[in-house]
Amino acid sequence: MFGSITVENIGELVTAAGNGDGAAAQLGLVRDACVVVRNGRVAFAGARADRPAELGGGDVLDAGGRLVTPGLVDPHTHLVFAGSRAHEFDLRNQGKSYLEIQQAGGGILATVTATRAASDAELVAGAAARLDRFLAQGVTVVEAKTGYDLTIEGERRLLAAIQAVRESHVVDVSPTLLAHVPPPGASANDRALFVRAFADELIPTTNAEAVDVYCDAGAFTLAETRTILEAAKKYGKRLRVHAEQFTHTGAAELAAELGAASVEHLEQLSDAAPARLAAAGVVCNLLPGAALTLKLPWPNARKLFAAGCTVALGTDCNPGSSLSESLPLMMTLACTQMGLSAAEAWLGVTRHAARAVGRADAGQLAAGARGDLVVWDADDHRQVPQHYGVPLARTTIVRGVVAYSSFS
Ligand code: NIG
Ligand code: FE
Repeated sequence: MFGSITVENIGELVTAAGNGDGAAAQLGLVRDACVVVRNGRVAFAGARADRPAELGGGDVLDAGGRLVTPGLVDPHTHLVFAGSRAHEFDLRNQGKSYLEIQQAGGGILATVTATRAASDAELVAGAAARLDRFLAQGVTVVEAKTGYDLTIEGERRLLAAIQAVRESHVVDVSPTLLAHVPPPGASANDRALFVRAFADELIPTTNAEAVDVYCDAGAFTLAETRTILEAAKKYGKRLRVHAEQFTHTGAAELAAELGAASVEHLEQLSDAAPARLAAAGVVCNLLPGAALTLKLPWPNARKLFAAGCTVALGTDCNPGSSLSESLPLMMTLACTQMGLSAAEAWLGVTRHAARAVGRADAGQLAAGARGDLVVWDADDHRQVPQHYGVPLARTTIVRGVVAYSSFS
């Protein structure tokens, strides 16, 4: 549904559409601003004094001098799953490691068992509830991965669940097929057959926009990752790689070589990778929630910025390593633990994240962009990462229609 709305009396507007060098310039801050959306698209975003007179009429929302930004974009979620791993959270906090829990049959495999047992309707309802929580945090576009079935037909079913929730929810969803870990108990031969079937049967016959592979100890090898990603490239999918999370595998370099859209995690980054990722234009999706929950070293964001990389932030929303739908919290962690400026964090959850998910018209407020915006209970963009742990999104507008209000 497309709407027309004028948001007036904006104290500070983040357009994320600025030009020039550096995050502060690209943030495109405007004071005393106004945004006009007509039929779901931005007709004007800028200083109130510059608003063309002919763009009157339509619904009016008074922002009361508050901060307004583009709708947030989450470039990395595991949206579809069933079951709870709350007990693992507790075990980990008492000293057990993520890999120890995985080797004892917990971790991803515990979620696979629960997800296989869930009905289609339960999976869609769980994903829709998560999207509701994303929307209440100001998020209007979400990337969503399969990966919790580990059979070819089962992964197809998870993709269908993503499609179903996409069709029924106001939040835009970008579907990704994820080769998460090899099927449990697979022999070397079964494992090779799974990789071939994923590459040759599954990828060409789905409408996923992207393909992601988790390349790490306990997951897929670099050679298996290459096989799957080369097939994805051949069939015109965007490429992503869960790379360098627990061990250094060289997956980030592979992502650069193959021209991936994004590379995820990067806690164990090599010295050579940042320059290659920058040269290849691969968006680095950093996931502070996973580093926080698993007590991993924080990804070296400054090293990426110094090399000229494009950095985005994601929740990694999943039942094990990062159970959160809060991109504002990820901004807080990125600023306080990884040394991002508030401007870098805002670009990471708007314009740069939109690039990672192939939504060039999202994540910024400029004429022609989609009319997704958020009025915050804040009057300065730096307050959103500073004021953490409480919901600050006051009104979320999707395609010109009010989709969420914190006060109604
Ligand atoms: O991105 N690293 C691998 N996959 C997920 C975790 C999934 C899970 O624990 O269920 C991640 O962190
Ligand atoms: Fe992930």
